[in-house]
Amino acid sequence: MGKTGVAIIGCGAVFGIHADAVAKSGLAELIAVADINERTAEKAAARYNCDYYTDYREMLRDPSVQAVHICTPHYLHASMTIDALEAGKHVLTEKPVAISTREAVQMAEAAEACGKHLAVCFQNRFNPTSVKAREIIDSGLLGDIKGIRGIVTWHRDGDYYAESSWRGAKAKAGGGVLINQAIHTLDLMQWFGGEIESIRGHADTRCLRGIIEVDDTAEATIYFKNGARGIFYGTNCFTDNSPVLIDIHCEKGSLAIRDGELYMTRDGKRELLTCDQTATGEKAYWGLSHEKLINHFYECLLRGTADYISIADAAVSVGMIEGIYDSSVNGRDYIFGEQQILKSLTGQADSENIKPDI
Ligand SMILES: NC(=O)c1ccc[n+]([C@@H]2O[C@H](COP(=O)([O-])OP(=O)(O)OC[C@H]3O[C@@H](n4cnc5c(N)ncnc54)[C@H](O)[C@@H]3O)[C@@H](O)[C@H]2O)c1
Repeated sequence: MGKTGVAIIGCGAVFGIHADAVAKSGLAELIAVADINERTAEKAAARYNCDYYTDYREMLRDPSVQAVHICTPHYLHASMTIDALEAGKHVLTEKPVAISTREAVQMAEAAEACGKHLAVCFQNRFNPTSVKAREIIDSGLLGDIKGIRGIVTWHRDGDYYAESSWRGAKAKAGGGVLINQAIHTLDLMQWFGGEIESIRGHADTRCLRGIIEVDDTAEATIYFKNGARGIFYGTNCFTDNSPVLIDIHCEKGSLAIRDGELYMTRDGKRELLTCDQTATGEKAYWGLSHEKLINHFYECLLRGTADYISIADAAVSVGMIEGIYDSSVNGRDYIFGEQQILKSLTGQADSENIKPDI
């Protein structure tokens, strides 16, 4: 069986991670790239020896392109995904799946109608520490979860927002630290903790007031249906990109992710269970798991299975963010049970309409 033909839309900061992962996978081949900025597209194509376009819709007409990665600003994820699905392509979109759960529903409906695979890039779920933590939770070794703590203290200054102006614009990014940086931690918290009953939080702009329209600091309390409680804090106002902290407190012990290492404490003893491979360089905080996630996506296409991170699953973090904004403005708990939009997505991941046609 030949390699899956891939195209990437958006050749900015995250592009190289996707293009390198496609090249390394051995299951896929980069055919073309598209960027609205011709020089950016041309440079990317020269680096990876592929075709380039400035109009992604034109690229979608190429029959050798079978799957498309969306690496563009958040507000474009939904429309580009739907265009690609309707052109008969499978899609892997960068996080967040969209800037609202309403858009996520439209994307899920398009994937179902077109019978194509649609996956979302939450690569941190592929970190060895995340995989092991989830395995231990599922095994029941530590009993039920009582609480989860997630803390993200990173540094993003005015230069970061000036580099790509969409990042600080509410209509284009959909939010700030919550939707762009801390969404990975919110996603892991719900992945570990289970279904959410309600959320209450606050979002604010502290250090970049007057520079960006979006939040740079936020906190929340998450009430899970199983009775567990989540405590979240995220900010882009720290002076450094410090490692994300996650604690999972269970009936018979606890798990802690610290500096890319997973520790379990049980009967008063603390042991190191596993660690993530360390990334180096400027973008080290993005981790190394894009490669694993992208390779897994192409394995799924070959097998015709849908055990990638589905839109229904990935939209939960977008719902959490909507909930934090809603409660921040209205001063009340945001009830997930009332959010029919998310409920309507449930079950679409394993749709029988998806065709294993690669
Ligand atoms: N998973 C992760 O850890 C991770 C890390 C970084 C970025 N991201 C995500 O990747 C996406 C892109 O982020 P980025 O930092 O690379 O952004 P960026 O601004 O650096 O790059 C975006 C690119 O999209 C191009 N673009 C804009 N409109 C376009 C259009 N209509 N057609 C074609 N190209 C268009 C821009 O010219 C730019 O080159 C975002 O969703 C972001 O959240 C994910």
